[in-house]
Order: sequence, then C-alpha cells, then structure tokens
Amino acid sequence: MPFTLPPLIETLRRRLASNDVSADRAVRTFFAPGRVNLLGAHQDYNGGFVLPCAIDRGTYVAARAREDSKLLLRSLDQGPALELDTRALPAEAAERFGWGNYAIGVLKAIRDDGIELRGMELVIGGDLPIGAGLSSSASLGLACALAACGIAEQAMPRKRLAACVRRGENEFVGVRCGILDPYACTLARAGHALFIDCLEDIIEHVPFPAASISIAVCDTGLRRSLTDGRFNQRVGECREALERLRQRWPELRALRDVDARILDQGGDLLRPELQRRVRHVSEETPRCQRGAAALRAGDIAALGAAIQASHESCRRWYEISCPELDWIAERGSELPYVLGTRLTGAGFGGCTVALLRAGTEMEYREAIEGPYAARFQRRATVHLFSAGAGARELE
Ligand code: GLA
Repeated sequence: MPFTLPPLIETLRRRLASNDVSADRAVRTFFAPGRVNLLGAHQDYNGGFVLPCAIDRGTYVAARAREDSKLLLRSLDQGPALELDTRALPAEAAERFGWGNYAIGVLKAIRDDGIELRGMELVIGGDLPIGAGLSSSASLGLACALAACGIAEQAMPRKRLAACVRRGENEFVGVRCGILDPYACTLARAGHALFIDCLEDIIEHVPFPAASISIAVCDTGLRRSLTDGRFNQRVGECREALERLRQRWPELRALRDVDARILDQGGDLLRPELQRRVRHVSEETPRCQRGAAALRAGDIAALGAAIQASHESCRRWYEISCPELDWIAERGSELPYVLGTRLTGAGFGGCTVALLRAGTEMEYREAIEGPYAARFQRRATVHLFSAGAGARELE
C-alpha cells in the first residue's frame, strides 16, 4: 500500500465531515487505480491487443449521500468546488467545469445506463500524476462512478461500468479513446497483467512475476492533454486508413486485421503518413500477442524485447514520441538490467515504462534521473509500481 494512502483518506473524510450539509450519513470511500500499458500502443481503438497493469496509485473519492438532489464535487488539489443538480446534469462539457468534466461525463453515462443518481457530495483526491499517461482521467471518472453506484445502492456489472467510463470521455469530454484505460482500471487483478483483445472483447489475467521483474515508470515532467487534438488526430487517421483499405478489402473488421501483405498491396490507397500509422498497428498487433505469450511462458527477455520494439515503432511510424521519451528508452537499452522501455499512454510526453530485473531499482533511478536533468534541464522522476487491483470500495 502506498504510504500516502491513510493520510489522504483521512483528509478526504475530514473535508467531507467539515461540510455542514444534512445529517449524519455515513462517509464511504472508493478507489480507482491508474494503469501502465506494457504493450499495445494505440491498439484499443483499432481493435487490437493491449497488455496493461493497474498500478497501486490512483484516485480516491470520499462520498456521502444528501437528502436533496444536489451534486457537490470537490477536489483536494484542483480548482473550486462544483455544485450541480443530479436531475439536470449539463448537456455539454464546459471549460468552467475543468477536471469536473471527467466526473460529470461518466455520471451522465451511468445515469443513461439506468443508475438512478442520488444527491451526493464527493470529495476527490489522488496520488497519480495528472496528464502523464497513467490514465488519470479514466481513474477519476471511474472512482466517481463507483461512488455514485455505491451511494445509489445499485450495482453495475464491471464491463458495463467500464463502458460508461469510456462513453463519458468519448461523448462528453470529446476524447475518442478506446477501452484500454477503463478496462485496466476496472478489471485488473493484483499481481497480474491484463491481456485484452479489444475487438473480440476478451480479457485474460496473466500472472506478473513480481519476484523477478520490477515495473519502473519514468515521468518526463512533460505534460500533454488528450483534449489538445493530437490524440484524436491519430484516431481520425486510423479511421480514414481503414475506410480506404476497405475499398479493396471490405472484409477488414478493424485496422488490426491488416497484415504485411495488405499493407504492401494497399500502399497506393494511403498517403505516406497513413501508411506509417497502419504499419505501426499491423506490427504492434502480433508484437503484443507475442509479448503476452512471453509473459505467460515466463520469458521476460522476450517480453522486454517486444516492449523496446514497440517504443521504436511509436517513434518511427506512429510519431507520438519526443526527444525526452526517446532518450529514456535509449538509455534503458544500454543498461544490462533493463529488459525493455517504451512510452506508455498516448505519448507526446508523459511517462515511459520499463521492466527491470528485480533489485536494480535504485541503480536505474540513478542512471536516469541525474543524466536526464543534465541533458534536458528538467526533472524526471522514476516511480516504482506493482501490478495492483481494479477499482473498489475501501473498507
Ligand atoms: C490513451 C487512451 C487509450 C489508448 C492509449 C494509447 O491512454 O485513453 O484509449 O488509446 O492512449 O494506447
């Protein structure tokens, strides 16, 4: 358990208790983790495979029911409190809601899916870097949705809950993300990675050998927002490429069905940058399957090699890397105890994830943080995570 957990929950609960609304209703606490994606970059919305782990950091929500229909949303560290009405949630996202858009979007989605929202107060805090590619937005939306279901005393099947988290982001916030983050944050199991076939909607929990490998995430300190348009641009490019390829191969279900032969014979249908995007997807698909097979077989060297190759493909073909991410990936490839490094999340800044031989964590931190600061005049932070469990109510 991260050392920040008990004080954070205490603060959340205290904050709730100090608000002078109605009566003595019980305060309940909910948690939704962030995630790292080990393999399968930008595959989810292309129907491909992904291999994330939930991490032991995320978003905490302290929640209390109200007698009226008000929805009060407060964040411990971001922006002013929001006061809304559960019976009249806003039709559209707005700048003035700030971080609250992620919560409101998902609350609307669960309401539209049949949950009767009660008036409630939610106080939100977390220990996840925001906008760093660790799924801070899905974690926030999911924690609020779980709290709302709890307060309404209505359960929702886990996959449906995850689908609502995705819809909140797609329809309300306007980010065309896939199912990777909602599934990872909802369905993960402690000590396991989650292998997801995003087209067939099949999940498999694959044991993660924590005794021999550590997960090290390095935060470049560079922030990006998925709402800045570059993420949606990649989604749009992939949709366009698929439509064009379907003119010749109408049987293609998703870009993940494109293999080397189609890529080779369909080049004339695609302008150069679309060819690069499709190339990444078509190579990442079998790479992620191989990586999952390697994890099942305990072949951590093969898993590491797939991770390193994924980074190279993100850089060269999907063009979502940056000098800072590349430097960390390359530095990792020079260190004998690093099995593989890649950017994680959407890219364009944020974090890398590396698999290390257990016991080398401090050495890794030293090999990265100091030289990175000297090279980029910016601070990078190495975090060590273990594969955590999915969202849940805390006792
Ligand atoms: C973001 C999106 C996900 C996924 C990743 C890239 O995290 O929210 O749906 O597309 O980027 O793999």
